Amino acid sequence: MSDLLGRLLGDYHRDALAGTPVHRRDDDHTSRAPAEWYFLAGEEWPDLERAGVGKVRGAVLDAGCGAGRTSLWLQERGHRVLAVDRSPGAVAVAADRGVDRVAVGDLDRLPVTADEFDTVLLAGKQFALGTELRAVAERLRRLWTVVPPGGRVVADLDDPTRVVDPDHAAYQADHRPEEGVTHRRFRLEYDGDVGPWTDLLSVSPAVLEGVAADTGWLLDETVDGGGARYWAVLERARHQR
Ligand SMILES: C[S@@+](CC[C@H](N)C(=O)[O-])C[C@H]1O[C@@H](n2cnc3c(N)ncnc32)[C@H](O)[C@@H]1O
Repeated sequence: MSDLLGRLLGDYHRDALAGTPVHRRDDDHTSRAPAEWYFLAGEEWPDLERAGVGKVRGAVLDAGCGAGRTSLWLQERGHRVLAVDRSPGAVAVAADRGVDRVAVGDLDRLPVTADEFDTVLLAGKQFALGTELRAVAERLRRLWTVVPPGGRVVADLDDPTRVVDPDHAAYQADHRPEEGVTHRRFRLEYDGDVGPWTDLLSVSPAVLEGVAADTGWLLDETVDGGGARYWAVLERARHQR
C-alpha cells in the first residue's frame, strides 16, 4: 500500500515539502492539508487539545500517532507511551523526533494485552473512521481487550449537531446516515500522488453514549471548547455487553 501521508510527513520533517498537500472530498471540494499541524508542540496547541489529551491516565497507547505530537507531550509528562501508526513513514518520523517506543500497526488490530496500558489515545479523529456507526461500535468492542476494567479510551470527534465548519455544512446536510451522525469521504493528494479514500464520521455525544453503553463502555465525560470538536473520555466496564 502506498504511504502518501508518511511521505508527506517525512518531507515536512526534512523541510523538503514538494508542493501543497490537499484534501479532496468526493464532491471535488478541496482544502489545504495542514502538514504543520502534525508537528505542533504542546504549548502551540489550542487549550481544548491540552485539556482533551490531558485526560489520559497511566501507560498510554497512542493509536494513530502520526508524527508523534501527542506521544512527545505525554512522554515529557512522565507517561509510558507506545506510539502506533499504520503509516511506516509516520512511525519513522515519530521515532526520529524522539518518541521512545514506536510500532507500525493497525488501531483495529492492536497486538497488546489488557494489562499493558491504562489508556488508548486516539487523537486526530481516527476513532470515528468508517461509513456507518457500526464501525465505531466494532472499534469499541475490539478496544475492550486493550485496557483493563476502569481503563480509558480518550478520543476527539466532531459533533454534527453543533457549529459546523462552513466548508462542510451543505455536504454534511446531504450525508447524514442517521440523527446525530454525518459522514464524509476525502483523500490526500500530494506531489502528483493520491492517497486512498478515507471515510470519517462525525458523531454527537448523545449518540456516542448509546454506542458506548451497547459495547461495554461508559461515556464518562466530554470536553469541548464551544465548537463542533470535542473529546470523549470512555471508561471500560467490567463486563462486556
Ligand atoms: C489525523 S492523523 C493524527 C495523528 C496524531 N494522532 C496527531 O494527533 O498528531 C490520523 C493518524 O491516524 C493514522 N491511522 C489512520 N487509520 C489507521 C489505522 N487503521 N491504524 C493505525 N493508524 C491509523 C494515520 O496514519 C494518521 O497518522
